[in-house]
Amino acid sequence: MIMSGQDETLRHRVAGSGGFIRNLWYVAAWSHELADTPIGRVLLEEPVVFYRRADGAPVAMEDRCPHRFAPLSMGRVEGDDLRCMYHGLRFGCDGVCREMPAREPAPPVRVRIYPTVERWGWLWVWMGDPAQADPEKIPDAFGLQGAYDMRTDVMDIDACWELLNDNLCDLSHLDFSHATTLGASSAVRWSERKPHIEELPDGLRITRWFEDARMAPGHPLPVDTLSSYRYLLPGLFLMSMAWYPAGTAARCGYAEPVEPPLSSRADQQAVTPVTSRRSRYFFATGVARPQANQRLLDGIVAVVTAAFAEDKAILEAQQKIVDITPPERQRFATPHDAALLAFRRLVRARLAAEAETDAAR
Ligand code: FES
Ligand SMILES: [Fe+2]
Repeated sequence: MIMSGQDETLRHRVAGSGGFIRNLWYVAAWSHELADTPIGRVLLEEPVVFYRRADGAPVAMEDRCPHRFAPLSMGRVEGDDLRCMYHGLRFGCDGVCREMPAREPAPPVRVRIYPTVERWGWLWVWMGDPAQADPEKIPDAFGLQGAYDMRTDVMDIDACWELLNDNLCDLSHLDFSHATTLGASSAVRWSERKPHIEELPDGLRITRWFEDARMAPGHPLPVDTLSSYRYLLPGLFLMSMAWYPAGTAARCGYAEPVEPPLSSRADQQAVTPVTSRRSRYFFATGVARPQANQRLLDGIVAVVTAAFAEDKAILEAQQKIVDITPPERQRFATPHDAALLAFRRLVRARLAAEAETDAAR
């Protein structure tokens, strides 16, 4: 069925609309990516360098030396400071220039410092007003050391972050984009089950029960499978798949059962805008520790990695079409678009609120 696309959101041109929500914690890297040497990242079209102070605490600093704009990520960590290795300016972890060759005292220049926090296996950075950077606003995730044995990876996708959000808010695509990978291995038909969507203050909870399903193709035991995930600003995908004895879904009134599942697995992912045309996709996938073994994990990781290469291919191709599509061309919505449209409305509302605050300043 196709619905008429009267929603304002549909008329919105996806890419190049400009603007990012700044007052949010963004995932910049997996924590383990940051070791002894600085790493440079571009987030929201801003260059940021991350390094560790002598006590191991992370620092996030503008990755642009104020002298000739060389990247400080090519610099050298000296205690708590970072030295530009072009002409030698040295900056403290407060961003203040501490030293310049042949000039005493150091010039009154500085670089921007961003609030940064390590949590749930990720390095987060606050891209907005530092006064609003409250680490309590970082949502709960699974982490890498918790109930699930997780493996991590990163992928760059040449597509706008909104196209990735759309993709992750509508898992009906598993039956088509991932027909031979994730769609097949999950042994359920995603596009034939309309999910239950609950709006949360910072995103959505999207839930599907699949009754009388299988844990995997050819598995002899009938099960009820519960797929439940939160999709939260700025683009966090936190999903568990849990398998229960057949009949559990109806017995629990399609709510989440209190008893532990027979087995479960989890996915922890984040979409971070690099530019309006490029996104970085962080993903971790894992199995509940009682069932986790390396062979099982190897198999799941192989399927997930193949599937995300399929996402990358379709998203990059879709971006190219979007780029040459006149802005007045309207998209149509299907019932499966309900979640992605709700998420886009949330994004629009936050962008509008930030624009209003900026205008009032
Ligand atoms: S560009 Fe950094 S010291 Fe010259
Ligand atoms: Fe996908």
